[in-house]
Amino acid sequence: MKLLYIGGGFVGTCSAAVMADAGHEVLVYDIDPAKIAALSSGKRDSIENILFERDLADYILKHKDRLTFTSAWDDVKQWLEQTDAVFLCLPTPEKNGQEGESDMSYYQSALASLGPALAVRNNNKQDHYVVIINKSTVPLETADMAQEILAQHGARNFGVVSNPEFLVEGQAVHDSVHPTRVVIGASSKKDFEIMRQVYARWYNVPRIAYVEVNPFEAAAGKLLANYLLFSRLANTFDVVGRLCEVFPHMRFEQVRKVLTTDPRIGTWGFYDSLHAGGSCFIKDAASLAYQLEQKTDRTALVRDALEANRYQLQHFFDRAAQEAHFDFKGKTVALLGAAFKQETNDVRHSGALGIIELLLENNVKQIRVYDPVAYDSLHRWLLTAFGSTAQQRERYGVPLNEKIVHCFNAEEVWSPDTSCTFIATDWREFQQLPQQFQKLCKSPHLIMDGRRIWCHAYDELQQAGYDIIAVGSPFLKAIPI
Ligand SMILES: NC(=O)c1ccc[n+]([C@@H]2O[C@H](COP(=O)([O-])OP(=O)(O)OC[C@H]3O[C@@H](n4cnc5c(N)ncnc54)[C@H](O)[C@@H]3O)[C@@H](O)[C@H]2O)c1
Repeated sequence: MKLLYIGGGFVGTCSAAVMADAGHEVLVYDIDPAKIAALSSGKRDSIENILFERDLADYILKHKDRLTFTSAWDDVKQWLEQTDAVFLCLPTPEKNGQEGESDMSYYQSALASLGPALAVRNNNKQDHYVVIINKSTVPLETADMAQEILAQHGARNFGVVSNPEFLVEGQAVHDSVHPTRVVIGASSKKDFEIMRQVYARWYNVPRIAYVEVNPFEAAAGKLLANYLLFSRLANTFDVVGRLCEVFPHMRFEQVRKVLTTDPRIGTWGFYDSLHAGGSCFIKDAASLAYQLEQKTDRTALVRDALEANRYQLQHFFDRAAQEAHFDFKGKTVALLGAAFKQETNDVRHSGALGIIELLLENNVKQIRVYDPVAYDSLHRWLLTAFGSTAQQRERYGVPLNEKIVHCFNAEEVWSPDTSCTFIATDWREFQQLPQQFQKLCKSPHLIMDGRRIWCHAYDELQQAGYDIIAVGSPFLKAIPI
């Protein structure tokens, strides 16, 4: 089949690459020419700098004959003449200050371009039926909205389907090739039939749940799935981890063993962390709360999960002053990790960004950051969050690239005057660092482990004279040498 993707971010590009692997011919359109240039460069480095996902560059390079990228709308118009399905993979962020209401302007703008293009196609007698697929995570009524906008622009002979994406960043390609479920929300037999052809590789396959529902149920299923996962994390941080922080004699890992051996409780989400970040959980829980609030006043549970996650980050940071009496003013701090989790360069809502903001507020002298892949994303975020170099100089006395230093390996992160280390991302390679750390950093030094990634070495580090504040542990004060 011929497929069009509108939006070539994490979801659009990963899904498009896997659809090309499944044998479809795919065009990806994105309004960001720099992203398109990188994705169509044919170079692994350029692709991974813009989108780091395991195996993604391989798929893009392997299927270059069936998978093309463009930022030219004229290419889209031509492609539409024979397209069977259009995937909309657009951002649906939270509107600023709207308590969770989704900003649907990216959707509306894409549909306002797509509608007339479909209408022209209809007028040219290219009256080939096309399904328009919401792949983004969207408010429940989005399929109706899309139908209306497209019809207003004169489009005919199309259906709107909801096909939410369940991929997990860091394993997005694997998840798309081997999904546990495919969810199709459609309102006509014809649309279900076309979607079965689009997903032929996964239809009627053992161990893949192919779920056919209506567009409302599909959109609700995605929002609710993200909320339930998010609330599991909020419970782990704010109840399980907190209990282990405030009572002595308990190791988080031991308590976890007790809990996760109950199959009803399961294992997912039983790790402690400074923050549940990423582009989806927070905004989707907020969107769910907002939509519920339009109809009912019983939304406390959803709002509490959001508040627990916000509190977790602030509380973790505040423990440095409250428990270790550490003052960040004028200090050099090492930060291990920028991405919101391992195996991705996505920094959206990452705990590391929250820590950087808090450190800057506390007049830190320098933050030395090491992340194996996310430094470019961090740099782009700094420009968006703190404005131009001139604006940064005005606010902080120097441009932020002088205060926030990029380190190319873990060794560089520890300069002789570093007196505190934050661990914000659970990159596996960080687990091995306590030995190196002890060689490079003499005590006194405060370790702020926001991932419990050095938990295997806490005893040794305490005995070597380091103070440790870890999520899910009480203050582990250095044992005088
Ligand atoms: N990232 C995830 O792990 C994940 C997982 C499941 C669902 N989702 C949902 O999928 C949607 C997309 O997420 P993402 O992570 O891919 O976002 P993203 O920001 O990585 O990608 C969105 C892309 O859309 C492009 N874009 C914006 N307006 C456009 C327009 N008018 N025409 C063409 N392109 C346009 C942007 O340039 C960007 O490249 C969101 O609703 C998200 O909640 C994300």
